Amino acid sequence: MTNKMKIAILGGGNMGGAFAKGISKQLEKCEVIVSDKNSAKLTELKKRTNIKTVMNNIEAVKGADVVILAVKPQDFEPFLAELKGKIPAHAIVVSIATGVKIKTIEKGLSHKFIARVVPNLPALINESMSVWIAPNFSPKQKESVKNILKAIGEEIEMKNESDINKVTATSGSGPAYVWYFMENMIKAGVKLGLKEEVARKLTIQTFLGASKMSALNFETEKELRLRVTSKKGTTERAIKTLEKGKFGKLIEKAIKNAYKRAKELG
Ligand SMILES: NC(=O)c1ccc[n+]([C@@H]2O[C@H](COP(=O)([O-])OP(=O)(O)OC[C@H]3O[C@@H](n4cnc5c(N)ncnc54)[C@H](OP(=O)(O)O)[C@@H]3O)[C@@H](O)[C@H]2O)c1
Repeated sequence: MTNKMKIAILGGGNMGGAFAKGISKQLEKCEVIVSDKNSAKLTELKKRTNIKTVMNNIEAVKGADVVILAVKPQDFEPFLAELKGKIPAHAIVVSIATGVKIKTIEKGLSHKFIARVVPNLPALINESMSVWIAPNFSPKQKESVKNILKAIGEEIEMKNESDINKVTATSGSGPAYVWYFMENMIKAGVKLGLKEEVARKLTIQTFLGASKMSALNFETEKELRLRVTSKKGTTERAIKTLEKGKFGKLIEKAIKNAYKRAKELG
């Protein structure tokens, strides 16, 4: 007999795999099992870990205390139908599927305790920004969600499901915006004549350093920016160029359009 919490992760791809590795490393009192219909994903997962895997969702959820749904939204309908009535009544279900509403999952599974999470890809290195809502959860159940999400990075609880699409447009898709900026900063450095590996290193460390200073929360981003921007200096010239090209407005428009798309999908 074991009193370990059993966590079943259904879908062992990018996200499911990241959750499995993070949880099994950080949460000692948990037993993790991953189920996937794709054996290659499970083989990949087993390469560097000793996480238990199965190719059968029903077997995975047997006796589970937490069930994490990590398959793609387009696979959800048959997936929920297969699981209907099979998840233990006390278990909490945590869905990370983009755009799939709590009501759909509640109905599809005939299950009461559903949390919805928007993680992001840095979950792969335990640096996810995960935002979650769990309307029907007790404080103890909420604590379990928090602990799971802390195993893969930072977490914030929100109250309204309608805010989830705003989060998807900001932090869910956000790493791609950052990488797009980095990609173009590297290209610009190379165009100036820097070697690519040098331009890349300069860009990466600049993002890391600037993010870490932001995370210290001593000053706002605007205050930090102004510290680098001396009158008539190089940074001022660059920022003026960005302002002339309405870069700030363009970012706003991009995120608004991502939000619109998230609403269309959800
Ligand atoms: N990637 C991101 O940045 C990100 C960010 C936020 C949220 N999400 C959400 O996270 C979820 C997983 O995304 P991902 O990028 O990890 O996808 P992924 O790498 O494709 O992983 C999903 C896995 O689930 C398997 N699968 C499909 N149907 C199944 C079923 N009925 N039972 C068991 N396994 C099944 C897939 O197998 P096959 O390969 O054979 O189909 C695949 O191995 C999605 O719902 C997505 O919306 C992703």
